[in-house]
Amino acid sequence: MRISAIMLLSLCTVLNIQAQGVRSESLLREWEFRNDHDTAALQGWEKVTVPHDWAIAGPFDRANDLQTVAVVQNGETNATEKTGRTGGLPYIGKGAYRHTLPIEGSTLDGRRHILLFDGAMSEARVFVNGVQVCFWPYGYNSFWCDVTSALEEGDNLLEVLLENRPQSSRWYPGAGLYRKVRHITIPKIGVPVWGTYISTPFICDEYADVTIRTTVDGLDREEAVTLRTSIFDAAGNKVAEQTDTRKVLDGEIIQKMKVMSPELWSPETPVLYTARTEVLTGGRIDTDWADGHYKHFSTIRVDGDVLQDAVTTRFGIRTVELRPDKGFFLNGKPRKFRGVCLHHDLGPLGAAVSKAAIRRQLTILKDMGCDAIRTSHNMPAEELVELCDEMGFMVMAENFDEWDIAKCANGYHRWFNEDSGNGIVWAERDMMNMIHHFRNYPSIVMWSIGNEVPSQHSQEGVAVAGWLQNLYHAEDPSRPVTCGMDQFDSVLGNGFAAQLDVAGFNYKVHRYGQAFAVLPQRIILGSETASTVSSRGVYHFPVSVGPDQVDADHQSCSYDTGHCEWSNIPDEDLAADEDYEWCLGQFVWTGFDYLGEPSPYDTDAWPNHSSVFGIVDLAYIPKDRFYLYRSRWNDNEPTLHILPHWNWKGREGEVTPVFVYTSYPSAELFVNGVSQGVRTFAKADGVTPCLGEKAMERFRLMWKDVVYEPGELRVVAYDAQGNVAAEKTVRTAGKAAALKLCPDRTVLRSDGEDLAFVNVSLVDKEGNPVPVDSRLVKIKVSGAGSFKAVANGDPTCLEPFQQPRMHLFSGQLTAIVQSGDTPGEIVVEVEAKGVRKAVCTLRTEASND
Ligand code: GAL
Repeated sequence: MRISAIMLLSLCTVLNIQAQGVRSESLLREWEFRNDHDTAALQGWEKVTVPHDWAIAGPFDRANDLQTVAVVQNGETNATEKTGRTGGLPYIGKGAYRHTLPIEGSTLDGRRHILLFDGAMSEARVFVNGVQVCFWPYGYNSFWCDVTSALEEGDNLLEVLLENRPQSSRWYPGAGLYRKVRHITIPKIGVPVWGTYISTPFICDEYADVTIRTTVDGLDREEAVTLRTSIFDAAGNKVAEQTDTRKVLDGEIIQKMKVMSPELWSPETPVLYTARTEVLTGGRIDTDWADGHYKHFSTIRVDGDVLQDAVTTRFGIRTVELRPDKGFFLNGKPRKFRGVCLHHDLGPLGAAVSKAAIRRQLTILKDMGCDAIRTSHNMPAEELVELCDEMGFMVMAENFDEWDIAKCANGYHRWFNEDSGNGIVWAERDMMNMIHHFRNYPSIVMWSIGNEVPSQHSQEGVAVAGWLQNLYHAEDPSRPVTCGMDQFDSVLGNGFAAQLDVAGFNYKVHRYGQAFAVLPQRIILGSETASTVSSRGVYHFPVSVGPDQVDADHQSCSYDTGHCEWSNIPDEDLAADEDYEWCLGQFVWTGFDYLGEPSPYDTDAWPNHSSVFGIVDLAYIPKDRFYLYRSRWNDNEPTLHILPHWNWKGREGEVTPVFVYTSYPSAELFVNGVSQGVRTFAKADGVTPCLGEKAMERFRLMWKDVVYEPGELRVVAYDAQGNVAAEKTVRTAGKAAALKLCPDRTVLRSDGEDLAFVNVSLVDKEGNPVPVDSRLVKIKVSGAGSFKAVANGDPTCLEPFQQPRMHLFSGQLTAIVQSGDTPGEIVVEVEAKGVRKAVCTLRTEASND
């Protein structure tokens, strides 16, 4: 049978209606919010849509997160005044949300009512009609509470109280109900939340074994239950079906099925399957003992036919394997992680989850050739992992930035070892939720037990690491476990690193060989790399390579040569990936700039309040570094990129180096038509580690002595045979003449949630970018959509993201436009003093998926 995804959905809906009692699920989007815990107040409630981040609208203020601390993590020993450390936004404090939930009396008869929170920041106390039904301290985790006994027929008052303490985070965590909230009803006999676990223990070309474990609640141990499971391929064809009648015994039923000629999931082929499992009663298992010469028995099974519940689980078929000396293998093929670390905030949208914004991030990263994401340093949003499944990214899902030893005075260490109320400590509760929530997602190929935890030094820490790894193994034996380690000597000496499936090192590229020589796994992962800093379009002279470069303009140089004291330039990690077969690749810190952690401007350096570690800035605009990675990671399209821009009034006659990031083997640079010579990439010379300038010569074509004169910078790239393969030109701009609009897409879904990222730039009358202008731009959006937010990527900019005006940064900014819920045209207009305004038209359309 061949059915489409839509047909499958309507089939499910029909089944839901026909069968008394199958589950229901609804999003709770409309809430009221106030910025304290005074829930008795009659006034002062604001209507909000969840996901909601109460702090992102600002205003930014130095006082919001001023701290006098020593960041031990960064090697500091004396306390100093830290500014902008968590984004300078007002996230600290209390917040209350309320929502009225109507309940039909008929659903209170045996059915379970669940509230499922994908994440609530933080220390969430959930009340139903004034009764506390659950408490969940960790703001990044998903949790659910069974609220059945607190509900009444008619309107029910749901309240969620949240509190963010000062010094509870090392970055901007967001505030509020920043991820989805769902109300789920489950029949008395039914599958609990995250009650299925699908694995694919054996895969060959002909078939894949698929094991489906389904938990069924509401039956006695000895009672029979029938599971009818159908597996559908991506096109909706039914590819397997099986009915099993079993006793529930431990509450879990295991079905073993086969999918013939399986299509394997990979970043290049993100093929997904769907299993639909129906839970039926009315069957029986009769066992007959015969007492003849030999004792034997026969079993008669009669399948049930009364539908109680039905669940749909998406999964993928793929293998993940580690081979000593050889590295990481996906579906039997070796590959290196071309990964980035991501914090969860979405820049100008804050922490409030937006699938459209995450999709935009992943689209940009895909173009770079990135194939993996580390969810640093906490549980990801469901939307991120769903999109990684669909768009093809491997995920390292991480749980904690702190165990029981503090990095922040009020961080997670306060909960780690605390009893969660049922004899299980929060660390374990949090792990269970995370694993059960995400273990069916094929994109997740590895778990992490934490990031740079101070416990790396101690024997207790070694034991905790073992315990956390075991929790992963016990709940999900199908994936390896790693940890982001930075205490190199400790972890090699005390057994911490040796016990992990994968030894993950943060910023220790110069010592990988040393670790490899002594660790039994004989593989090393760059769990966090580079931490190179740069501000888009800003260049400082003379160009120097090295740590902790600060400048009067509070920006970091975009020649991609500056980094932190503990980190390095990208080239060294790229070299390690090439030079060491046993190196699994890397996760660069970070894919995107994020709010908070404005190193190296984090000590009394206000107004800096966002990081400059990103390959892409806070306005979703790629920096130069993007092309450096792209030149090595994008296997499908060539890269040819020149830096810097060529607008240096006052620098005439001065040395202004030119770098080219390219996938071609060599290139020639011309300044106003005069050749500056051909450059070719240096070859690896077999000496490892390959560091500093030597590494740069392998990954960048550099003309270090170019003397600036206004005009034209042209690079001609040659292929391996010396033929001209591509050209790129950068010109000195004339007077700014006009604004230019460039939307990432022109057709949006009319779902009230879709986003267009409209790049706004300044050009001269020939259309050349003017990258040194910062005039104020006003934005107007009308028609079938609205203005959502704006950002310019300047880490020092204190203008609010939610006002339709902002100054350009290095000649650009991004206006984010949100679709309305009816199809139509959206008109985006931008204007600025002294230049021609620009207009573009987008369209919204109804979508069925
Ligand atoms: C690492 C840490 C990250 C971030 C980064 C900045 O040590 O794991 O969370 O702080 O440094 O370079």
